[in-house]
Amino acid sequence: MKLALASLLFGSATAFTTTGNHAAVSSTALNARKPFISGNWKLNPQSKDEALTLAKNIASSITDSSPDSDVALFVPYVFIESAMGAVDSKLSVGAEGVCPQINGAYTGAISTAMLKSIGVQWALAGHSERREIFGETDDYINAQCLKIIDEGMAVMLCIGESLAEFEQDLAGSVCAVQLKKGLKGIRKEDLNRVAIAYEPVWAIGTGKVATPEIAQDVHATCRAILADIYDQEAADDVRILYGGSVTPESVDDLMRQPDIDGALVGGASLDSEKFGRIINFQD
Ligand code: PGA
Repeated sequence: MKLALASLLFGSATAFTTTGNHAAVSSTALNARKPFISGNWKLNPQSKDEALTLAKNIASSITDSSPDSDVALFVPYVFIESAMGAVDSKLSVGAEGVCPQINGAYTGAISTAMLKSIGVQWALAGHSERREIFGETDDYINAQCLKIIDEGMAVMLCIGESLAEFEQDLAGSVCAVQLKKGLKGIRKEDLNRVAIAYEPVWAIGTGKVATPEIAQDVHATCRAILADIYDQEAADDVRILYGGSVTPESVDDLMRQPDIDGALVGGASLDSEKFGRIINFQD
């Protein structure tokens, strides 16, 4: 992983001392942070009945012997309330996005106030599909993050490089820019309501999961970037989830990495058996 550009951007070489060497970037003790397993349903499923059944079956996979993790489902707005009823507070149900404005002439938008009024705590921001398909910029994503935090909610900020960027060893640099811009103005004391999802675009929905080593390398880099923006204590506390084709087959090895604190799961979160196995990962 080449981090030279990231070092330049942040003007601090200490956290980014070398390339391709996990030991060079500080990583933290395994299980230092509470695991966080989350599902992202995207534009699925197609009916309320299916959403209810899926949410119920996922919730029933959480038992007394499940790992002590936070579990969340990010679901389409129309299913939020019924999914909340179906999961019986075993997990949180969050929104896939928010509008940074609070009210006014924004046809089709959903505000943080509306979400809060139905008990939503978590929302996604910066997912690569929102960046690419809907043209959401780093500034817009930052406005979403700030609004979510200002309103007392919690945000999962998604970041990640494209295939071309990965091939040019730019993952660290891209994550540095997206983290710095996305988190601009968020204070250290509010970071307990921030989670980061590192989702390499080349791994999302492609079946090409990053190897645990690649993912760990970028996660450690992201933590070093957080330490550079805030400080090491803050960086050690922020949960960084991996996303991109996570399956029951890949989750255990990913979760064994010291800087991987959870997973953001798309396709496999639409299958309660698969997602149930991911929730019950073995470390
Ligand atoms: P995937 O999606 O698990 O289907 O790759 C992950 C995501 O987009 O959050």
